[in-house]
Amino acid sequence: MIKRKGILKIAIDSPAAAGAGTLAKTISKCYNLMYLDTGKIYRIIAFNKLKYPNEFNLQFIKKKIKNLKIKDFNDKKLLSDEVGTEASLIAKRKNIRKLVYSFQTSFAYNPPKKFNGSCLDGRDITYNIIPDADLKFFITADIKTRAMRRYMELKRLKKALTYKEVLKSIKNRDKSDYNRRISPLKKTKDSILINTTNLSKRACFLKIKKIIDRKINI
Ligand code: C5P
Repeated sequence: MIKRKGILKIAIDSPAAAGAGTLAKTISKCYNLMYLDTGKIYRIIAFNKLKYPNEFNLQFIKKKIKNLKIKDFNDKKLLSDEVGTEASLIAKRKNIRKLVYSFQTSFAYNPPKKFNGSCLDGRDITYNIIPDADLKFFITADIKTRAMRRYMELKRLKKALTYKEVLKSIKNRDKSDYNRRISPLKKTKDSILINTTNLSKRACFLKIKKIIDRKINI
């Protein structure tokens, strides 16, 4: 694998709906980093499994990953609860994680020259995808806050789910993501914990910016 030298690599892990995506995007913009929401890859695979159940096999997934375009990541259909739940089931499969691994690592270590580095968020980024990241964060919030944020997001997308249903779904996803055998969600010792429960998006960003600036000596 080609590794660009002297780039800034930021790794973020977090449970569902903790606000990591929003933060990662803002950080990436601020420091001109290439951003990858790794959950979207599992969601794209899950979406295709639900849409083409009979064609779904490793070869099919390989082709999908190879032909991924930026616009595929922005498809609103990926945001449904059904796709999220399927993604978390798919993410337990070793052969699927293996396929996704090289896509993610080349993204992290060899971003296009116009970027100063990369920022990835997911579940196993800090210890599996970028173990030597310059900065590692574990972003979390209490479960009710996360469920409320996801509920509001789904409501904006006109998805007819109750808060209770969303809370149940997030609880199940946490259980699956934290307890699975392969690449479980965990906070590594060298990750900085950021609890976003009582912080606005701006306050979270400023808190993280301060830590990054200190590290890169701005
Ligand atoms: O972050 P998001 O909710 O979009 O992720 C969907 C699912 O994909 C997660 O619940 C998790 O099971 C899986 N995932 C993963 N490893 C990652 C990113 C996401 O297993 N790096």
